[in-house]
Amino acid sequence: MTPKPVRDIIPGIDGLAFGGDYNPEQWPREVWEEDIALMREAGVNVATVNVFSWASINPGPGKWEFGQLDDIMDLLESGGVKADLATSTASPPPWFSQAHPETLPVAPEGHRLHYGARAEYCPHAPAYQEAVVEMASKLAERYAGHPALAMWHVGNEYYRTCFCDLAAAEFQAWLRDRYGDLDGLNDAWGTTFWSQTYTDWEQVLPPRACAETPNPSFVLDYRRFGSDARLKLFNSEAAAIAEHSPDKPITTNLMVTGNFAGNDYFRWGKDLNGENRLISVDHYLVPNDTITYEPQVAYAAALSRGLAHGHPWLLMEQSANASAWRGGGFAKRTGEQLRHSLGYVAHGSEGAMYFQWRASRYGTERWHAAMVPHGGRETKTFQEVVQLGQWMKNLAEIKGSTVQSQAAILLDFESVWAHDTPGQLSSFMTPFPELRRWHAALWKRGITCDIAHPAEDLSRYPVVFAPSLQMLDDDANLRRYVEGGGTLVVGPFSGVTDRNEHVHPGMPGALRDLLGVRVVEHVPLREDEMVALDDGTSGAFWAETAASEGAEVIVSYVDYPGTAAIFHRAVGSGQVWYLTTRPTDLNSFLDRLDLQPEFPGLPEGVETVRRTHEDGRSYLFALNHTDKEATIPASGHDLLANTAWTPTTTLPANTCAVIREVR
Ligand code: GLA
Repeated sequence: MTPKPVRDIIPGIDGLAFGGDYNPEQWPREVWEEDIALMREAGVNVATVNVFSWASINPGPGKWEFGQLDDIMDLLESGGVKADLATSTASPPPWFSQAHPETLPVAPEGHRLHYGARAEYCPHAPAYQEAVVEMASKLAERYAGHPALAMWHVGNEYYRTCFCDLAAAEFQAWLRDRYGDLDGLNDAWGTTFWSQTYTDWEQVLPPRACAETPNPSFVLDYRRFGSDARLKLFNSEAAAIAEHSPDKPITTNLMVTGNFAGNDYFRWGKDLNGENRLISVDHYLVPNDTITYEPQVAYAAALSRGLAHGHPWLLMEQSANASAWRGGGFAKRTGEQLRHSLGYVAHGSEGAMYFQWRASRYGTERWHAAMVPHGGRETKTFQEVVQLGQWMKNLAEIKGSTVQSQAAILLDFESVWAHDTPGQLSSFMTPFPELRRWHAALWKRGITCDIAHPAEDLSRYPVVFAPSLQMLDDDANLRRYVEGGGTLVVGPFSGVTDRNEHVHPGMPGALRDLLGVRVVEHVPLREDEMVALDDGTSGAFWAETAASEGAEVIVSYVDYPGTAAIFHRAVGSGQVWYLTTRPTDLNSFLDRLDLQPEFPGLPEGVETVRRTHEDGRSYLFALNHTDKEATIPASGHDLLANTAWTPTTTLPANTCAVIREVR
């Protein structure tokens, strides 16, 4: 199969994108002039504007005032800064909520929420749905030809869920589409359990607060429905924009880590990967996450890469310093934002963008970090921003290059949601921390991996990990991958339920034949309990008694004599591993695989990632996250320091190099 040519996702921007959210409407005009001067000093070439400006553009019913936005767009143009123009639909103003009270979201308990913050809308309310299309259409009509316009930014971080009657009506329609009739719905939801059979569509409501734990299949479908409804909103705005502005890329900023947004981003990725679309993501590090602190950047990037399917993607937001809503107090150490920003670029981002350009003087985010903090240009933060801007210029030639990963970790958001549904056997078998733990273990060994979806073509990855994949309908795609020569590693309690969260007969269900293992009984462990294995390692949180049905037993439990813990099986030209517990030391397990880093022996925390152009030009990013200097045995030219790089060149602690390689 010939790979599709890599798309230029930000053709309107020269080189890599560098800038952030810019809210000049919060400032008097004289500050705007200073902003442009500082942007030039920092090398900013793009600003995301109009994210939260509904109230100024459309201050009342039928009233449209574009004067201020015209000025902002002209200001950017005069300063040589391109605009990532947002549609401002993420925050309806009070007049709108008052005029259309049914657009305010309803909580699971049934009460309607008030306005006074942001994202106060019900995704299912026709008045809101119509208003956002009108807004997008008017903006696109007006600014399609503006010379500052580089790209469109629809909404902002879609995540709102609502439980109102309008939501109920849309949910019923979505379910009819999915199941055809009530028999189909009752089957899928297993409503004979607790006598929940539906006899009329009108009886089907959102999963509002009820007296007991609700039906898990029902809860799961509501999450699917919510994700689809938000995606429909995005697409409705994108279509309205494309009518007037067919040649500019359109995006929306995804919140890639965790599950806060409740969106199935692999599903969203399909719609964000077409012509004139791009994957852009927001990422805020979790400061007190000691196990996986440094690899967090690589993890967010791995998922972004997975969503972009081989195309570059864009880091739309990060924080230049402490994020106030993280509890504050977690300042980035000197050099950290440089290393982290470069980390995203190393892993395929076509630039480094921030929330936000200038710190707000008021509002909830008045203490959130910014490229220009309250302390202005003499701050360490701004000085580092200037340094980064210079690096971004030096790196212009990497635009359009991509990262090839040696491995993939499988993530299915629906399976994560399945885990979140009521009635799980163990609350310690959470998927995301486990995925990140495997990712961190690979990162520490110098293995670059993507986060991929279990149903996609995985043949480009020599090794695929499925540490936590509770819900899997069938093994067809994974079998194809293994038989074709891949190595698949499956973690415990995977493949056990179908798409409706019904338990497959014959544990471990969908994967039983492929693994050649029969699980007899699950043994959920206490939080601090460990089980000893006969290779000297241990497992935590979970164990299983299991018997071979063709797989070879590699490691057994000491605590459950005669019971296997780790199985291995050759299938077709590939192989599959099954772990019936969560190994406490992933390294020992990874030693069993044929997965070598390019530079064996690099100290843990010295990260290397390569970006390659289709014509073969390649760039080795070297990020030294440690406090000791390191040597990277490569040859070429360091684009950051603009000096030659030889195999004996040292990379000082807490610094980076980007080596244009001579190969
Ligand atoms: C999110 C939002 C921004 C801002 C930042 C920082 O990513 O998109 O508007 O709130 O977080 O908190």
